[in-house]
Amino acid sequence: MKILVTGGAGFIGSHTLVELFGAGHRPVVVDNLCNSSAKSLERVARIAGVPQVPFYRCDIRNREALEAVFAQEDHFDACIHFAGLKAVGESVEKPWEYYDNNIGGTLVLLDVMRQHGCKNIIFSSSATVYGDPQQIPITESCPKGHCTNPYGQTKSMLEEILTDMRRADSQWNVVLLRYFNPIGAHPSGLIGENPNDIPNNLMPYITQVAIGKRPELGVFGNDYPTPDGTGVRDYIHVVDLARGHVAALAAIERQCGLAVYNLGTGRGYSVLEVVKAFEETTGRKIPYSIKPRRAGDIATCYSDPSKAAAELGWRAEKGIEEMCRDSWRWQSQNPEGY
Ligand code: NAD
Ligand code: UFG
Repeated sequence: MKILVTGGAGFIGSHTLVELFGAGHRPVVVDNLCNSSAKSLERVARIAGVPQVPFYRCDIRNREALEAVFAQEDHFDACIHFAGLKAVGESVEKPWEYYDNNIGGTLVLLDVMRQHGCKNIIFSSSATVYGDPQQIPITESCPKGHCTNPYGQTKSMLEEILTDMRRADSQWNVVLLRYFNPIGAHPSGLIGENPNDIPNNLMPYITQVAIGKRPELGVFGNDYPTPDGTGVRDYIHVVDLARGHVAALAAIERQCGLAVYNLGTGRGYSVLEVVKAFEETTGRKIPYSIKPRRAGDIATCYSDPSKAAAELGWRAEKGIEEMCRDSWRWQSQNPEGY
């Protein structure tokens, strides 16, 4: 299929491009590079063995520019929509920017898509839509919860917008993928997560401590109701997550209508378990100290991934050791990122 990949230069997008090429699809990237580098696309081309990745530097809020991409490319069979801002803390400081980019951008994209007869979309949603989940493991039928930050609100609202679009027009096929915690990197060490500033997330923080950029990890709270008191999450290797998108394209080909899937492993690890797994697989010591809880964090979040297994034939295959090893390979081979 010929696929428009918005945000394709980013962390999850770049890994998904590799899998799309591998499965024989023809991706075309639109990205404004606000949180990424075009170098990731050169690296994807190297891994995939293609001369280059078709790429338009374009903001999805720019209707004219997006129209020009559709006109130039003739048609798309589907869109995988990664483009968006994703830093939880920043979204609290800059709510307007998050609503404008994530909601405004998606509204323009959907309108241009339908005007060009492309009504198939896979959307990057998040486990954050469950809020403090009512059940563990979390199934897709678990009610959505209260999101404590504008970033989470945009994901939840966009799910509603896409659901309403499909309800009003049965030609749409909409797949909402709720990601759990993506970490790891491509095993080549050529592409990976490239945080601009001080990392917000656990694994990039750990790898920066391991390489000596930061003195120690702060563990945000050890008094949660979990086995060791630290937060438990469902970490998923980004290559497994990327493959979930290829599986979701098959659902679109089957005219799935509206479909919602958790993409996780079904297994939770605490912060201290991740630190231990990282130390054991890489031989690097991660000094840490216990800090107060981080505002908005929950104790435990892990998925029941059985719906994606039953309906898409997709399962996460890579374990925590591989996630740690690949995150470290990326960081140690690219200490300054791209
Ligand atoms: P990322 O920041 O690496 O990638 C997002 C890409 O979108 C970047 O390349 C950025 O330049 C681009 N972009 C942002 N706004 C744009 C705009 N207006 N026009 C064009 N391009 C734009 O993030 P990621 O981790 O790869 O996440 C991809 C998607 O998955 C995001 O929608 C994110 O919210 C979602 N998600 C991520 C996680 C996670 O932990 N990484 C978890 C759940 C959901
Ligand atoms: N943590 C630390 N120290 C750090 C960073 C994180 O102890 O320096 C802890 C957190 O308190 C939490 C766990 O590590 O218990 C994971 O934290 P992350 O920030 O890596 O991930 P979150 O679960 O908080 O959130 C991530 C994304 C969200 C997304 C969510 C679910 O940041 O955007 O996963 O997919 F919505």
